[in-house]
Amino acid sequence: MATTITNPDIEAYAAQHTTAVPPLLVELQSATEAEFGGLATMLSGVSVGMLLQTLIFATGARRVLEIGMFAGMSAQYMAAALPPDGKLITCDVDPKAIALAKRFFARSGVEDKIEVREGPALKTIASLVGGDPFDLVFIDADKGNYTNYYEAVVPLMASRGIIAVDNVLWSGNVLDPKTADDHAIVAFNDHIRNDPRVSCVMLPVRDGVTLIRRA
Ligand SMILES: C[S@@+](CC[C@H](N)C(=O)[O-])C[C@H]1O[C@@H](n2cnc3c(N)ncnc32)[C@H](O)[C@@H]1O
Repeated sequence: MATTITNPDIEAYAAQHTTAVPPLLVELQSATEAEFGGLATMLSGVSVGMLLQTLIFATGARRVLEIGMFAGMSAQYMAAALPPDGKLITCDVDPKAIALAKRFFARSGVEDKIEVREGPALKTIASLVGGDPFDLVFIDADKGNYTNYYEAVVPLMASRGIIAVDNVLWSGNVLDPKTADDHAIVAFNDHIRNDPRVSCVMLPVRDGVTLIRRA
């Protein structure tokens, strides 16, 4: 569940000094709260959304993969920054979330750039082996599989590709892990830090985002 790590007033100030959330995504936030209640906190929000969008803009990314779409907020942020011939492949296991996301994609003006795959992410990733490489992968699904997702996508990356991973601070629980998900995130963070193939930076943005590239 995404929360903020920084002082809430500082987080609010940072959000207020980040490009405003587009009206359609404000509406998506309300619709997600109405349909999913407290689970709406899984939506990426403006800070992570704009970080992903800026990464795509700065790197000129054309092919993006998202692991864990939910209601499609991060997908919309990313697709908006892709060139007209760019492609975002995104996936989720929840048909209700997919239906909501698709309703809003249809009104987004970027629908043509988004391909939605329903089903377990590892199956989607396996189906992409042998295809064109990805410039950006955003990992944001079930925490117990983070290391599996990472290992599965590393071979699919373009040479200058970036893997962005959300919730790596896990509400601060990484400092005192108790649950299986806490331990999975801690193990993932250690795995990345000790992987000689990559360089990484962990950013305390919202619930923590790690950016990973080839060493
Ligand atoms: C944190 S939400 C994604 C939020 C979205 N990226 C955003 O920022 O707006 C995580 C999503 O991962 C999905 N998920 C969980 N297990 C999955 C799996 N094995 N394969 C694909 N998606 C999965 C959940 O259904 C949920 O919608």
